[in-house]
Amino acid sequence: MAPNGRDEMQPAPVIKTDKPFLDALNGIAADRPPVWFMRQAGRYLPEYRELRAAKGGFLEMAFDPDTACEITMQPIRRFDLDAAIIFSDILTVPMALGQHLEFVQGEGPKLGELNISALNYSNFTRLNEVYHAITATKDKLKAEGHNATALIGFCGAPWTVATYMIEGGSSRDFMKSKRMMIEQPQAMSSLMNILVEASATYLINQINAGAEAVQIFDSWAGVLDSENFKRWCIKPTQQIVELVRAAHPHVPIIGFPKGAGQNSLKYAQSTGITAIGIDHTLPTEWAARTLQPVLPVQGNLDPAYLLAGGDPMIMAAEQILGDLKNGAYVFNLGHGVNKETPPENVEALVNFVKGR
Ligand code: CP3
Repeated sequence: MAPNGRDEMQPAPVIKTDKPFLDALNGIAADRPPVWFMRQAGRYLPEYRELRAAKGGFLEMAFDPDTACEITMQPIRRFDLDAAIIFSDILTVPMALGQHLEFVQGEGPKLGELNISALNYSNFTRLNEVYHAITATKDKLKAEGHNATALIGFCGAPWTVATYMIEGGSSRDFMKSKRMMIEQPQAMSSLMNILVEASATYLINQINAGAEAVQIFDSWAGVLDSENFKRWCIKPTQQIVELVRAAHPHVPIIGFPKGAGQNSLKYAQSTGITAIGIDHTLPTEWAARTLQPVLPVQGNLDPAYLLAGGDPMIMAAEQILGDLKNGAYVFNLGHGVNKETPPENVEALVNFVKGR
């Protein structure tokens, strides 16, 4: 027996908090599932579009702590969600490592030529603005009475971030990235190692600044075969989890391997994450049977239902809530909010999930 009277082999008891989102991630069943949405801040909100027009561009907003805080708060004020996610982007890491980044309106991200051996930490202090935004948002949530709302930090998973760095932006078939992975595995490995270390540092700093949970977005996990999924999605994610846990053993880490299908099980078992995000292509009854016994699940309404609204949205949400009701669960979409989504639909869905 340990001096505190507990058997040393027993994990510390999980203590219920005043935040349903954190409780669900810790495996504590709540009266109702907590709810938040990926990309809950953004262009579908008129108050976001107004700020964007005033500030000029996405990066100008993301790297201005007051503005990033304000945008993070916008959906919380409207919908009183159980979690806020800091307004930033997964591509801030390559930028902080010295690769040129710009967002061309209507075209998405554009990155400069990738030179792996030139990546370095001399611009990493630019991310301090993100940490300041997190601290400001944590204070703001409290000041505005959102005491049950948790603040999420995030990063992209190395594979997903690497695809943007290699392709120079978004891609249809990821052929440049896959060719590099197959023809130059050493170079790919070096890039991954850099991203593992930088992403873990970034997450640890976000937690130091006040993030209460973190999510690792692997948006393009679904384009790899099982062997490459193990090597380039599971392994680097597992390495990040290990580094973050060493610094912050109790902060929940959500992994979101979008499109991973049946590979999600191996991911859930081997990465060490606290909870898994699932996209809408994964059957919820499979997730309930296969993933939920392993860890809490988050997801997975198709954002198209949120866009459409009305009875079809409510019925689809009801089915998901029913399928996942017997385990630890966080309601979310299967991917980000679409920019044409009427805010009224978001309000109706949140009210439904909250049982109002
Ligand atoms: O979820 C949130 O509300 C937090 C903020 C957030 C953004 N991007 C803001 C953003 C988060 C968590 C992300 C993650 C992100 N960024 C991912 C992973 C999740 C996913 O969607 O798969 C990826 C792949 C990116 C890369 C990225 N950023 C792309 C491809 C684009 C352009 C496409 C688009 O939707 O415009 C962005 C820009 C971006 N990131 C916007 C926002 C609100 C749009 C900026 C604007 O034009 O105003």
